[in-house]
Amino acid sequence: MQELGGRPTRRAILAATGLAPAGSALAAGRSAAAPEYGFAPGLIYLNTASLGPTPRTIRDAMEVAWTELETNPVGMSYGAGELLTQTDAARAQTAELLGCGADELLLTRSTTDAMNILAAGTRLSEGDRVLTTDQEHEGGTYCWTNLSRRRGIALDVIPIAPTDSNPAAIVARFAAALRPKTRVISVSHVISSTGHRMPVAEIAALARSRGVVCVVDGAQAWGQIPVDVKAIGCHAYATTGHKWLMGPKGCGVLYLSADAHEEIQPVQLEDGHRFVSNATGVGCLPLAIGLGAAAEAMRRRGMASVAAHNIALRNRAYEGLARLPRLKLASAAPGDPMGTALVAAYLPQTVDSGAFRQAMRDRHGVVVKMAEKRWFNGFRLSPHLFNTEDDIDRALAAVRAELT
Ligand SMILES: Cc1ncc(COP(=O)(O)O)c(C=O)c1O
Repeated sequence: MQELGGRPTRRAILAATGLAPAGSALAAGRSAAAPEYGFAPGLIYLNTASLGPTPRTIRDAMEVAWTELETNPVGMSYGAGELLTQTDAARAQTAELLGCGADELLLTRSTTDAMNILAAGTRLSEGDRVLTTDQEHEGGTYCWTNLSRRRGIALDVIPIAPTDSNPAAIVARFAAALRPKTRVISVSHVISSTGHRMPVAEIAALARSRGVVCVVDGAQAWGQIPVDVKAIGCHAYATTGHKWLMGPKGCGVLYLSADAHEEIQPVQLEDGHRFVSNATGVGCLPLAIGLGAAAEAMRRRGMASVAAHNIALRNRAYEGLARLPRLKLASAAPGDPMGTALVAAYLPQTVDSGAFRQAMRDRHGVVVKMAEKRWFNGFRLSPHLFNTEDDIDRALAAVRAELT
């Protein structure tokens, strides 16, 4: 094994693991032969909104980190250990893609985990109220329903219809629903069911003007559209690395603004008002390094161009679906500023969404998500960077075949 200053080099580590000969593309961090994504042959994957694929380069970065970790577990991860240094760099890369400082971020396991951490860290007590919508994902609401059971807080829920396409009217609905005991507004940045982009900056401004904490669930936004938590002005932003960011499965983040710390003190925050990475005990450093690598890859691509690529594909999907007489679209039409890469459609009541999803997979090799039954009988496509126009056309042909 090649040694540098007494320690094996990353190249040598990879070569030693048998992953690749020293000097090969993989040893340099990238496989020339292996495809960038590991999809099963022929699969057309249109469900990034549930879980994104992790590119080979990111998986390689984690494998390298894991291999390095095992060369000297304590030396690599305690004190001035190299992996701890790499994790700090990854935290900085992660923060940059969210528009905040590294010391304003907590690394979590998921959006749901981040929401639970922040809700449990609030001072909310009996009689306090949380205002939210009827379109939130469970990952953004379990934390509040749990507090209503444990502490007796009350939830106010406003409806957001698929046909709601007026951001100002939505903000006015939030304003009208605020009550004297409303302490928190909790809202998705991008709604899971329809892909509607919510006017979160305006909602955060409303919350601040009324002394209310604004919490944003960004699970469907980060990695899909540009996100700048400071520009949004929310107090807290919870999101995940394992959807649109295409980072490793099982990682998320929680941003807390400096002025939210009085109201929200997450359990991880054990060192005054600073987020410290060692306040939770030993963490999974390779995972954090993978998250940072995924954030950095997106930053380099440029979020505006990622969003433009995805919108072009979703518009193609929308237009194709709109031509099918048995379907009705549930998402915003092309050109509507509320539209994002998620496109959902209602199925006829005679077609079961679960059976439809399965048929798409089994007969056509196309992965779509069925809409949660509590929302509507339908399905959702969520194309991302790795998808092509041909993927969309093949998915449309499959939908057509299933409905005729
Ligand atoms: C809006 C929203 N919030 C939260 C979640 C849960 O995400 P995670 O797996 O990161 O907890 C999802 C998952 O689909 C979602 O769409």
